[in-house]
Amino acid sequence: MEDHVKIFDTTLRDGEQSPGATMTGPEKLEVAKQLARLGVDIIEAGFPAASTGDWEAVNLIARTVGTAEGPVIAGLARANRTDIERCWTAVKAAANPRIHTFMSTSDIHLEHQFRKSRGEALELIGEMVTFARSLCSDVEFSPMDATRSDPEYLYEVLKVAIECGATTLNIPDTVGYMTPEEYGMLIRNIVERVPGADKVTISTHCHDDLGFAVANSLAGVLNGARQVECTINGIGERAGNAALEEIVMALHTRQQFYGVGTRIDTTQIARSSRMVSAITGIQPQPNKAIIGANAFSHESGIHQDGILKNPLTYEIMRPETIGKDSSLVLGKHSGRHAFRKHLEHLGYNLTDGELQTAFARFKDLADKKKLVDDRDIVALIDDQLHQPAPIWVQEQVQVSCGTTAIPTATVRLRGPDGVIRTDSGQGTGPVDAVYRAINRVVGQPNVLTEFSIKAITEGIDAVGDVTIRIEEEGTGNADGNAGDRDAYGDSGAQRSRTYTGHGIHTDIIVAAAIAYMGALNKLIAARQERLRTRSSTYTQSNAPAYAMDWFGNSTHGREE
Ligand code: KIV
Ligand code: ZN
Repeated sequence: MEDHVKIFDTTLRDGEQSPGATMTGPEKLEVAKQLARLGVDIIEAGFPAASTGDWEAVNLIARTVGTAEGPVIAGLARANRTDIERCWTAVKAAANPRIHTFMSTSDIHLEHQFRKSRGEALELIGEMVTFARSLCSDVEFSPMDATRSDPEYLYEVLKVAIECGATTLNIPDTVGYMTPEEYGMLIRNIVERVPGADKVTISTHCHDDLGFAVANSLAGVLNGARQVECTINGIGERAGNAALEEIVMALHTRQQFYGVGTRIDTTQIARSSRMVSAITGIQPQPNKAIIGANAFSHESGIHQDGILKNPLTYEIMRPETIGKDSSLVLGKHSGRHAFRKHLEHLGYNLTDGELQTAFARFKDLADKKKLVDDRDIVALIDDQLHQPAPIWVQEQVQVSCGTTAIPTATVRLRGPDGVIRTDSGQGTGPVDAVYRAINRVVGQPNVLTEFSIKAITEGIDAVGDVTIRIEEEGTGNADGNAGDRDAYGDSGAQRSRTYTGHGIHTDIIVAAAIAYMGALNKLIAARQERLRTRSSTYTQSNAPAYAMDWFGNSTHGREE
């Protein structure tokens, strides 16, 4: 049995299936680089057959992050030739590529979704694993909905998958139905009863519908699984996937109990978590284990007293172990050198250009706020690194509001054509007024579905941190883009696309405007990408006229 548990991170595939967690190609690459720093064994980079954008992102990650010393780069493929071929073309540039193919095995899926008999599914699985193995020496097979499948049929399927060349067998609890005792027993039975199981890696893949995803995964490890599929912050479909940080820290903190560890650099956990929440806009709850804001805060007097005397009195892990540092305070007199050194200490290696921008923003903040601590700096840098490519740039925001005034906002925005446009709007409050003014200039219909604001630190001069989500009106599959297929490959669902935006500023109205511009820019970029994908089937003359809008010809707002 292998002496360590492989961490298979699926933040970029299953995690991205969380509502609103859609990431752009560059964002996926950034997350993949961080996952490599974190030391995950396998990155599931996406589902290449889903869309051109997905294929490109997986391929880019394979080429840049999939080095010989780097992680295995896996792509997901349904059990059909087209998906498997598409997956292979995307991942084969990696030094260590993997094809991960899947097919349902539960009667409920076979009958109602796939309309196949057990025999037909078994034959297909054998053929497709053989085909995948003819392309790639590393093949993972997942019997989807394994935990609701007839165990005897499941063992038969797994035996065939091994005979046809699968090197990893993943056992998905697709609907999060199992209890830890049942899941552990299932893994044990597979290890003991499936011929050849000792020659392959058995993997867990647990969803959190009943809150058991981490417990089930660990029960799997105790019973012989040596790969765990998980996501940063536990993001994923519905209630999410098993949280990587919880699995890793359980195996780390209770190593004697589990008897196996991982190859993860735990000091990169906090940074990975922050990056994923900044990019997806999905903030973990404050009391979330390991990475929640309160996970290492001690509120009661008795606990604080004990911690001061000896941290071990009430702490089973040190915050530094996950890279959550004690705060160092910088002020407006801190120099560029100290700033760069401190950023390196926090795990950021910025280019000269990035450092210049970050330092200017830090100085600006230090002018407004007496003490700038690590939380401010991390928020500042994450915000700088994760703002989408600016299509529309906010030049100025001005509001007037109060008990007797009608909230009114004026905005000046620079469009993708370089022209500055100005417009005003009135709303129920200052944020509403700003958003209406921006809408008048940009002219992109959308619905605001979430708005949240929090202070990054204590104190009246704290930086405001705004996260918003918008939905693009009239999306779904109207564009006929393959990218609209869901993870299981079905097209046709009228899913609206959600885009998140994030902004920080000492002025919360400005922070709200930055967040909105970020979300709008993502929406526009996604639309451009869809048009680009479609352009192969459109000629210039039959291209939709509105496409021009997205390349800068706004007809809205007053030009300056
Ligand atoms: O949950 C699931 O069944 C999956 C498979 C595609 C592995 O994500
Ligand atoms: Zn899943």
